[in-house]
Formats: sequence, structure tokens, C-alpha cells
Amino acid sequence: MNFEFTEEQLMIQKAARDFANDVLKPGVIERDENQSFPQELIHQMGELGFLGMMVSPEYGGSGMDTISYVLLMEEISKVDASASVMISVNNSLVCYGLESFGTEEQKQKYLIPLAQGKQIGAFCLSEPEAGSDATSQRTTAIDMGDHYLLNGTKNWITNGGRAGVFLVIAQTDVEKKHRGINAFIVDASWEGVQVGVKENKLGIRGSDTHSIMFNDVKVPKDHRIGEDGFGFKFAMKTLAGGRIGIAAQALGIASGSYELALAYSKERKAFGTEICNHQAIQFKLADMSTEIEAARLLCLKAAYQKDNGLDYTLTGSMAKVFASEAAMRISTEAVQVHGGYGFVKEYHVERLMRDAKITQIYEGTSEVQRIVISRSILK
Ligand code: CAA
Repeated sequence: MNFEFTEEQLMIQKAARDFANDVLKPGVIERDENQSFPQELIHQMGELGFLGMMVSPEYGGSGMDTISYVLLMEEISKVDASASVMISVNNSLVCYGLESFGTEEQKQKYLIPLAQGKQIGAFCLSEPEAGSDATSQRTTAIDMGDHYLLNGTKNWITNGGRAGVFLVIAQTDVEKKHRGINAFIVDASWEGVQVGVKENKLGIRGSDTHSIMFNDVKVPKDHRIGEDGFGFKFAMKTLAGGRIGIAAQALGIASGSYELALAYSKERKAFGTEICNHQAIQFKLADMSTEIEAARLLCLKAAYQKDNGLDYTLTGSMAKVFASEAAMRISTEAVQVHGGYGFVKEYHVERLMRDAKITQIYEGTSEVQRIVISRSILK
């Protein structure tokens, strides 16, 4: 077993760390406050190859492995989880889905600009009444002969307001239940595609989350992904990798919180000494660093399995549930270590605590991860 990173992996980690500290950090409080994220920053992430980092260079990507992706996600998320969710959705859900299951024509037309960061994509599975219970799709795509007619509403769509391309999951045959679900590539410019209001969120406020309405959208037949009825499996297979990305995001939120708490504990004095000299604080730091190490190892194991063609569904879910719950605990403790200062925005930890919460919810709640894990160990 080799615990060392390659030079290339370390290079990507450094590039992500520098970008996070030099470019993302300066405006992160304002972006959180204003719920904004300048297009220019997305452009820069695209230029650095962060938006299509695992896509083969043949399709405009950086051709990196999943280990590098975990390292990048951790570094970006330490500073700005709004930026990292955009990276995660575009890489793990949209680009991965297209590269793995799309036709050559679909890849040429849609994957290349997405991998190059010239466009950003969104993944439309959740609905007002279908979140965890993802087979209960109400969005329909009726086969009209030469096209599908798409109707329905998708909720909580990350990148919804700025996506050029949506991957949309819809029911094509209700009788067949989940085997009658398909996935489609939908161009945001098509008639009938309507972006709903932006959600006003607790965390990851820089990222834009919208509902998306599809009203009689004509989807050409060749925009279906995979064989007829492949849509639910497409969503599950894609989300299995997505969960590694979100686990790494949670890991970054946890390690960012820990690093701030550690530094603060060495500066702040109470009862005549730096607070890191008090056992009450030392034990918090010990627990934080132990949990972070465990979360990191789970993320890297899942990434290793994915890179080596092994089944990563179980480890990916373990990584996500463990890292996201650790992120919630650690960011809350980081606020506690900061005391009153932790409760104000300038010290960053309150934002990290708010950002942590979503990692227990999106791309499969903690409860869904436990379903996946228990089914896997009991089968
Ligand atoms: N790979 C391949 N196929 C899979 C699979 C996987 N990982 N998981 C399930 N399937 C297949 C099953 O084999 C089964 O197929 P067959 O019947 O043909 O054998 C089919 O899918 C249905 O599976 P289940 O019976 O297990 O389905 P279920 O109704 O019990 O649901 C679930 C399982 C795990 C709860 C699933 O519904 C789920 O993951 N729900 C959560 C959805 C989710 O993660 N949503 C996130 C939205 S996207 C998002 O958040 C993006 C963002 O913007 C940040």
C-alpha cells in the first residue's frame, strides 16, 4: 500500500491551494453575503482546468485521476465551498455522466465546452416531491416519434441560473417504474426551459440554486443518454462518483475549520496562557484532527477504487456520510474554540459551519448513504 502522492497530484493540490488563498479568499465573505459568484471566477477555474479535470484531453479535459480531484476539492472547500460545489457538479455529475455514457456526437457537442469550462452544466434529478425517493419522478418525457416532449419541475438545481446544459432525468413510461426513466441532454437556450427564482440558502450562498421548469420542451431523440430505460441507473452510477466529490468537499470544510481553530488557539489567551494550553481545547483539536484523517482516508480509498476500476459505491457512501457528519461536528467545534469571535463573519468559521450542513443533504442525504451502505453489507 502506497500512501504517497505523485508529483502531478501534489502539483494540482498546490495549484488549488494557491487559487483558493490568492483568488477565492479575498471576496468570500462578500459573495456569501450577497449570494453572488462572478462569472470571471468561473472562467479562471475553467482556464486552470478545474472544471473538467478528470475528462480525457481528447474531450477538452485535464485527464487527471480521482485522487487529484479529491485533493483539489479539499483545498478549494477549505476556503469556498460555493466554488467547490460548482466544480463538483460539473466534474462528477455532468462531465462524468457524458463521458461515460454519452455518444461520440454528444461528447463532441456538449462535453468539450463543459470540460474546457466554456460552459457549466447542471444535473436535474430532484423534484418538489422526489428527493431521496428518486424513482418517484413526476417530470415526464413523452415519446412523440421524432422527439420527446419534456414537462415538469426540478428543484434545488446547483448551477441552475448559469448552466448552459442540463442533464435531466424524466419518466418516459410510468408503467415500467424506475426502468421507464431516461436521462436527457437539454440545452438551456431551448424554448420552454425556464429558470425559477434563486433559493435564499443557509450555506453555500455563493453558488446559485434554482428550480428549473420544462414546459413542452422538444428534446431531439439523439439527446437521450444510453439505451431506453437507462436513466435511473445513469443517475445512480453518476451519483456514486459524485458522492466522492461531496465527501471531499465536506473534508475540506472540516480541515479548513480545524486549521482556523488551531491557529486561533495558539494566539488567543485566556486564564494567563494561550488557549491551546488548556486541555479543554487540546482535546477538541485532537478529536478534530483524528476525524479529519479518517475522513481523508475514506475519500482517498474511494478515489483509488474508482481510478482502478474497482467498485467504489460502498466506500463512496461511507466517505460521504462520515466526512459530512465530521464536517458538521468539526465546524461547530471550530466556532466554539473561537468563542464570540466565531459567531461573527470575519473569522470565517460560522460560514464553514453553515456550509457544512448541505453536505449531509445533497447528492444523497446521510440517511440515503446509510441505505446504500446497509444494503451493500447485508446483500
Ligand atoms: N449503480 C447502478 N445501478 C444502481 C445503483 C448504482 N449505484 N443503485 C441502484 N441501482 C439500480 C438497482 O440495481 C435497481 O435496478 P434494477 O431494479 O433494474 O435491478 C434500480 O437502480 C433501483 O434501485 P433500488 O431498488 O435500490 O431503488 P430505491 O428506490 O430503493 O432507491 C436510493 C435507492 C439509494 C434511495 C436512491 O433512490 C437514491 O440514491 N436516492 C437519493 C437521490 C440523490 O442522491 N439525489 C441527489 C440529487 S442530485 C444533487 O444533489 C446534485 C446537486 O445539485 C448538488
